Amino acid sequence: MLKRLESATPTPEVTITIDGVPYQVPSTLSVAAAVLLHQGVAGYRRHGAGGHRAPLCMMGVCHDCLITIDDAPNRQGCLVTVEQGMRVCRQLDDRGCEREGRDDADL
Ligand code: FES
Repeated sequence: MLKRLESATPTPEVTITIDGVPYQVPSTLSVAAAVLLHQGVAGYRRHGAGGHRAPLCMMGVCHDCLITIDDAPNRQGCLVTVEQGMRVCRQLDDRGCEREGRDDADL
């Protein structure tokens, strides 16, 4: 699990939703970092066969961070900074964001 260093400079926070659930995240994080912070590597997304996928490069090269942001699917989460009210949906299956409000217990 990822966590911020205690020595990290405090930053203002914004509220985003991940699959319909609100989370407070530092305003300086990318969407990928915010999702990793709250969902962990295994909870980021799944590929067609059902295995886990997660961001790898965090710099726009690998495309393993694809995620739905404000109803736009397949955005590179590592290249987008979180914003107040942003709606993020993990692409865990073919149904995309249709299951907002789910949690890991639903998987
Ligand atoms: S993590 Fe590699 S492109 Fe986003």
